[in-house]
Amino acid sequence: MKKQIIQLIAAAADLDYEMVTEILEIPPKPDMGDYAFPCFQLAKSLHKAPPLIATDIAEKIGDVDIIDKLEVKGAYLNFFLKKEMFVKSMMESASIKNFGSSAIGEGKTICIDYSSPNVAKNFHVGHLRTTIIGNSLYKIYSKLGYKVERINHLGDWGTQFGKLIVAYKAWGSKEAVEKDGVAELMRLYVKFHDEADKNDTLNDEARAWFTKMEHGDEEALDIWKWFVDISLKEYKGTYELLGMDFDHYMGESFYRDKTAAVVEKLQNANLLKESEGARIVDLEEYNMAPCLIMKKDGSSIYATRDLAAIFYRKETYHFDKCLYVTGQEQKLHFAQVFKVVELLGNDWAKDSLVHIPYGLVSLEGAKLSTRSGNIIYAEDILLEAIDKVKKTIKEKNPALEHKDEVAKIVGVGAILFHDLYNQRIKDVSFKWDKVLNFDGETGPYVQYTYVRCASILRTVQYDENAAIDYSLLLDEEAIALLKEINRFPQVIADAAEKYEPCVVARFAMDVAQSFSRFYNACRVNVEDDDLRNARVKLVSLTKNTLKDALDLLGIGCPEQM
Ligand code: ARG
Repeated sequence: MKKQIIQLIAAAADLDYEMVTEILEIPPKPDMGDYAFPCFQLAKSLHKAPPLIATDIAEKIGDVDIIDKLEVKGAYLNFFLKKEMFVKSMMESASIKNFGSSAIGEGKTICIDYSSPNVAKNFHVGHLRTTIIGNSLYKIYSKLGYKVERINHLGDWGTQFGKLIVAYKAWGSKEAVEKDGVAELMRLYVKFHDEADKNDTLNDEARAWFTKMEHGDEEALDIWKWFVDISLKEYKGTYELLGMDFDHYMGESFYRDKTAAVVEKLQNANLLKESEGARIVDLEEYNMAPCLIMKKDGSSIYATRDLAAIFYRKETYHFDKCLYVTGQEQKLHFAQVFKVVELLGNDWAKDSLVHIPYGLVSLEGAKLSTRSGNIIYAEDILLEAIDKVKKTIKEKNPALEHKDEVAKIVGVGAILFHDLYNQRIKDVSFKWDKVLNFDGETGPYVQYTYVRCASILRTVQYDENAAIDYSLLLDEEAIALLKEINRFPQVIADAAEKYEPCVVARFAMDVAQSFSRFYNACRVNVEDDDLRNARVKLVSLTKNTLKDALDLLGIGCPEQM
């Protein structure tokens, strides 16, 4: 019916369908109508006051069977639809298979570069954010029909590996690295810096080892590869806990034989300048610091490898967009790199390369089991959340089956939801009471709403195939819930456009809260068969929508909890 309304307005106001779609609103309160068309925007081009425009459109639309009442209120034309028809239309549209999905992305590819931890360093809470946000964007874009390439651009190349090799040879052992993994590699790295402060020749040695790596020295590469494997194994443990995966693990090292071509391109385009022995691209004209391309000793750096990666991905995946999910402190880095791509004559860089920054994570009043100092491992937070949920289950529902599995879905879900509930750029602080509060605006609350729906469908007798009598779903709360559910397709499109999973998280919460109001006002397990069937059908739509919305956030739903 929304489509019909749009068509009516478009015809009456002589506007195109897309424009009306964009302007049409859902009013915040039902007494303001089911849809509202604001006329401010038209006032300028029509040289007329908005209320007059609204009145004109209303007159042109006239009497239509689907409309109960048209009302001009200030600059708005409010549409009150025939309730029963509206309910039928909303029930039907929400019942279609893959409700919410669309084909707008068909034939298009999006690369998402996210997670990307640094080898030999711990997978910390910051990397948890990029992983969670990136994964959600992957789900959202897939739902819209895009082909998505999930790329883990591991930090697995650079001078730090020269340092690590020196430290390993001087103070490390195979046994210790095998036993303690990344924690031992971090210890060696810290030790290197402590020692190098006293003895500068260590730095020369480290540079020499990295140069060996860049020249393909077998011993250097063997040790490096071993460090990578050990780190990756740990990271994969965290991904498994999160239930997340990648299409490509292509770290910085993948581009080591592709950076020379980048340097050549820049040279040919006359973009390279020498500065204190290093090679840079001057970006002063664009109010940015220069982009460093090659160090004095000829080695490539982070930016060079990012440039190589962009060209590789463009040639390999022909992406329409390539998204980079990292902390906001890398804003300048990406602005520089994207500018350099553009300066090489690639106009697509402007719209296709997008940095998606996010805020900091802090741990407020949370006692975390850290393995060393105040370095917070992402895995420890996830495990602690699971543990806390386990305790709650033991207290409140000791008879629950599959306790461990449920605790994992709820504990991990709580962290994910908390992370995704606010705009990316906002800082996230973990406070366990807040993250795990079953009554608050949390993941567990939404999951619990899903569980209630599932339980109703299990316990109430109903006929799945019965024709629904839509006139039985005219309660205010039922209509409000249906309206909420029907926002789903638009919600997904908005989330994609803004690169904001929080739009979906907020929606899931709205549906859950709306369901709660419905459930309090309208008993489901009533005597009357028709009424029961109709209400159960609404419960079932709620259940499916909650599951799909949470899935877009990377969060699972237990059937019981
Ligand atoms: N490894 C980097 C870090 O941990 C993130 C890499 C982001 N991706 C990229 N293509 N630069 O900060």
